Amino acid sequence: MYCFRKVTDDLYWVGADDHRLALFENIHPLYHGISYNSYLLLDEKTVLFDTVDWAVGRQFMENVRAVLRNRPLDYLVINHVEPDHAASIEEVLLRWPNVKIITSPKAVLLLHQFGCPIDGCSVEQVKEGDTRCFGKHTVTFVNAPMVHWPEVMVTYDQTNGVLFSADAFGSFHALDGKLFADEVDFDHEWLDEARRYYTNIVGKYGPQVQSLLKKADTLDIKMICPLHGLVWRKDIGYFLDKYMHWSTYEPEEKGVMIVYASMYGNTETAAEILAAKLAERGVTNTRLYDVSSTHVSYLISDLFKYSHLVLASVTYNLGIFPPMHNFLMDMKALNLQNRTCAIIENGSWACRCGSLMRTCLSEMKHMRVLEDGVVMASSLHEQDLPELDTLADSLTASLKE
Ligand code: FEO
Repeated sequence: MYCFRKVTDDLYWVGADDHRLALFENIHPLYHGISYNSYLLLDEKTVLFDTVDWAVGRQFMENVRAVLRNRPLDYLVINHVEPDHAASIEEVLLRWPNVKIITSPKAVLLLHQFGCPIDGCSVEQVKEGDTRCFGKHTVTFVNAPMVHWPEVMVTYDQTNGVLFSADAFGSFHALDGKLFADEVDFDHEWLDEARRYYTNIVGKYGPQVQSLLKKADTLDIKMICPLHGLVWRKDIGYFLDKYMHWSTYEPEEKGVMIVYASMYGNTETAAEILAAKLAERGVTNTRLYDVSSTHVSYLISDLFKYSHLVLASVTYNLGIFPPMHNFLMDMKALNLQNRTCAIIENGSWACRCGSLMRTCLSEMKHMRVLEDGVVMASSLHEQDLPELDTLADSLTASLKE
């Protein structure tokens, strides 16, 4: 049975939710599912904007068929060819063999690489600024390279101000019947998952997102239709502001994230005491995470949010405790920058992880490491407490800068 929603008078959401996928891209855990969005325009011509992951292909096909009501499908606009959106193209081509594909030249290359059978189809390759008229609606194609793949373009409908934004402005989280951001309590129910999606999927490409935002600024956008998550038709500036912070690596909030790597609880205790000392100084916007039991996608997401980071780690095999090392490598890979950091290091002998963590941070951009830190030998002792007090003072002062 079909399950679609009306977006405007002549535009329909024909995507589907996936509640069964455990790991998005086989790496990021999903606890609230995800949606794959596709949109169908009924103009003088019928136009489908992107398809969906094959996992929800059957639902998608029922939706498209129900909205078309025996009309042919005239055009398929492909903004992005990652398989979570392009895997159902082949089925579309089988069912509507006369459909004309509109996409970017790089997308054609990648579609071939992925084995999508577009040879023999009508394919119109478009470039930045090209337009197509489908009757009442005229759309413009805007390149968005490396947001987050090279072929990506977004499509702007000049007639009603709808921006088909590809992965930009997407989110983890299934729609569960809702479609518009104003139908949910976004700040409480969705923002964390939207941030985790952006930072882990697109976060590396801040400058490219900035380029897209500059182009978007020249358009009169009335609605944003992304390929995952909610459609924005109100308060678009709120979400654009989040994207400005994330893509410029500016923290959203002053606050301290304490991430600890602890084998027997001693480094964890130091992290807890530091959090308590910060609270005593009035610093309560703190978050404490065990790096061993928190998926790194959550750590990355919160690090895009908060201004300060304390890394507390035990030394392991004369190096950084592996999950902490993985976190640092992910920070670097995702281009994380512009944070104030502090180090707590622990080692029963040959304590080395502090200097190694400092080296990792020095390889990232604009990461300031406070001189005050704490060195522990196996566990915290009474004589170590002044060092923690000094570190708490230093963090508190830095938060006021
Ligand atoms: Fe949702 Fe880049 O695919």
